[in-house]
Amino acid sequence: MRTHYCTDINESHIGKEVTVAGWANSHRDHGGIIFIDLRDKSGLIQLTCDPADGKNAHHVADGVRDEFVLIAKGIVRARGEGLINPRLKTGTIEIIVDELIIENRSEPVPFVIGDNNVGEETKLRYRYLELRNAKTYETFRLRSKAAIAARNSLDELGFLEVETPILTKSTPEGARDYLVPSRVHEGEFYALPQSPQLFKQLLMVGGFDKYFQIARCFRDEDLRADRQPEFTQIDVEMSFCNQEDVIVVAEKLLKDMFSACSIEVQTPFPRMTHTNAMEKYGSDKPDLRYGMEMIDVIDIFAKCDNEVFTKIAEHPKTNRIKALKVTGGDLIFSKREMKSFEDYVRKFGAHGLGYFQMKEDGLKGPLAKFFQQSEIDELVSRCELEVGDVIFFGAGEKKVVWDYMGRFRIFLATHEKMNIIDPDAFAFTWVVDFPMFEIEEGRVKALHHPFTMPADMDKEHLEDIESIAYDIVLNGTELGGGSIRIHKEEIQSKVFEMMGIEEEEAQSKFGFLLDALKFGAPPHGGFAIGFDRLIMLITKQSSIRDVIAFPKTQKASCLLTSAPSPVDSTQLRDLHIRLRESAKKES
Ligand code: AMO
Repeated sequence: MRTHYCTDINESHIGKEVTVAGWANSHRDHGGIIFIDLRDKSGLIQLTCDPADGKNAHHVADGVRDEFVLIAKGIVRARGEGLINPRLKTGTIEIIVDELIIENRSEPVPFVIGDNNVGEETKLRYRYLELRNAKTYETFRLRSKAAIAARNSLDELGFLEVETPILTKSTPEGARDYLVPSRVHEGEFYALPQSPQLFKQLLMVGGFDKYFQIARCFRDEDLRADRQPEFTQIDVEMSFCNQEDVIVVAEKLLKDMFSACSIEVQTPFPRMTHTNAMEKYGSDKPDLRYGMEMIDVIDIFAKCDNEVFTKIAEHPKTNRIKALKVTGGDLIFSKREMKSFEDYVRKFGAHGLGYFQMKEDGLKGPLAKFFQQSEIDELVSRCELEVGDVIFFGAGEKKVVWDYMGRFRIFLATHEKMNIIDPDAFAFTWVVDFPMFEIEEGRVKALHHPFTMPADMDKEHLEDIESIAYDIVLNGTELGGGSIRIHKEEIQSKVFEMMGIEEEEAQSKFGFLLDALKFGAPPHGGFAIGFDRLIMLITKQSSIRDVIAFPKTQKASCLLTSAPSPVDSTQLRDLHIRLRESAKKES
C-alpha cells in the first residue's frame, strides 16, 4: 500500500508524490491546518492537511485520533522557516496530503506509545502497544540480524541446523522441569527441554559431526532481570574436537553476530581460570570493564595486633583477607558512607568491613592502630596506594569473602558517585578450568552438568577435580557455557556414581545416553550462548524482557494471554488429572 517508510523520505523527495501508512502518533489543529505525526516501524513523519487545498484530506483529518490507522498520499515539501524539528529524522520536510484514508480506528490507548514511565503490568498486558514504536522495533531488528548472522556463521563452518524435540524427557541443567501430562499414557509426563544437551550429544553419536540449533529452552527457576522461564540458546556441538577448537568456533560466531549489529569485537577473547576469577573478582562471571581486583593481604594481617584477623590468618587455605582499592575513594565517599557500606556486605554474610584511608601523613582508619609501620608500608606498597585512595577489606571463610567482596566490587563500581564503567565497552572473557563438582549441603552436584569430561579423576578430594568446561562472560554476565563431554560409558557411569546417582536411577533417567555411549560415541564437545542475554547486552537493555517479544513476568505469567490459566474439567479428565481442593479454589 505504501511507497516509502516514513523515515526513508528525505529532502531528495521534495516535490515527489509518496504514499505512507501507519498510526497517528499525535494530531494538532493549528488555526485550521491539521498536522498529524504519522508513525511506522521506522519512525515519524509530519502529514499536513490544509483546508485551503480544497481536498477531502482535511475533512478526514479532522476525525483522526491518536493511534488511528492511516494511509496518506501526498507531495513532499520542505518545511517553512522556523518550522524545522531537529529532533525528528524527517524534521526538515512534511507531506502535503492529497488523500487520507482512515483504515481503522482505535479506542483511547492505555498509555502513550513510547512512554517509558508506564507500570510493568500495564506494559505487558498491552505488549503489542509497547512494541509499536521505532526504538523497540530496532531491538528486534538487531535480534533478527544477529540470528541470521549466527546461522550464516555456522553454516560457513559446515554446521548443520537440526531441530530436537520439545516434548521430551527431563534434561538436567539444574532447574525444575516444566511438565506436560500425556493423554495416551495415563499418569505419565513429558518434560520440556531445559536445553537440547542430550539430543545434541546423540547427534554426535549419529555421526552428524557439527550441529547447531537456535533452540527454545524451558526452565522453572526463580526469575531475575536476566532470566526468563522460556528463552533461546544458540546451541552448538561438534565431534573430534578439543576445547581450543570449540572456543575458536564460539569466538567466530560471537564476532559475526556482533558485526551484524555493527559492533566490531576483537578476538581471541582473554581467558582466566576459575580459581583466578574467584580470587581476583570473587565471581565466576567477572566484569572486566573495570579493574578493582581484590588483593590478597592475609599474610600482612597475620602480623597485626588484632586477634580477629590473626585467627583468620592462621588458616590461609580455607580463609581469605582481601582488599579492594578505590582510587581516589577518600575524596568520593564520606566517612559515613564508608561506614554504611558495612550494612551492604553484612547482607551477604560479612561480619564487618574494615577500611583504610591514604592521607598525606600515611594510612588512617579505625583499625590502623593494630598495625606496625612496617606492615602499613607493606599494605601501601602491595595495594599501590596513593594519597586519596581508600582500601576496604573483608576477612573470613574464603567462599564467603569471595562472594561478598565480589558483590561489593560491583556495588562500588556501579555506585552513582563512581563513574568508572565505560557504557560502550564490551569486555569478554573466557573462564576456564571449572571444578567438576560442588558440594552443597553434603550433596555432590555437577558444576556444569554431569556429562562434562573431568580433566583428571585421580584427586583425593572430589572438590579438587577439574572439568574441561568453559564459560563465556560479557560485562559481568554469563553469556554462555560449554564443555568437552564424556564419550565413554564407563567414565559417565563413574561420574554418576561419584554424584551418588544409583545405577538404577541413572538407567531410568539417562539409560538412552549410556546406551548410545556404548555404540562408538566419538569425542565431542560444544557450547550454548544465551541468545536473549546476548541481545540484551548488545542493545544495552536492563531487562531480558525488553528483548523478548512476548515475555513473562517475574512470576512466570503472561499478562497478555493470562497464561497459565485454569482449564475445563473435561480437559483435565482426558489427561487423567484431578486437582486438589486447594488448587481448585485458587483457580
Ligand atoms: P547453561 O545452562 O549454562 O548451559 O545455559 C547456557 C546459557 O543459556 C542462558 N540461560 C538463560 N537465559 C535466559 N533465561 C534463563 N532462565 C537462562 N538459563 C540459561 C545463559 C547461559 O549461559 N547445555 C548447556 C550448554 C552446553 O554445555 O553446551 C547449557 O544449557 O546465557
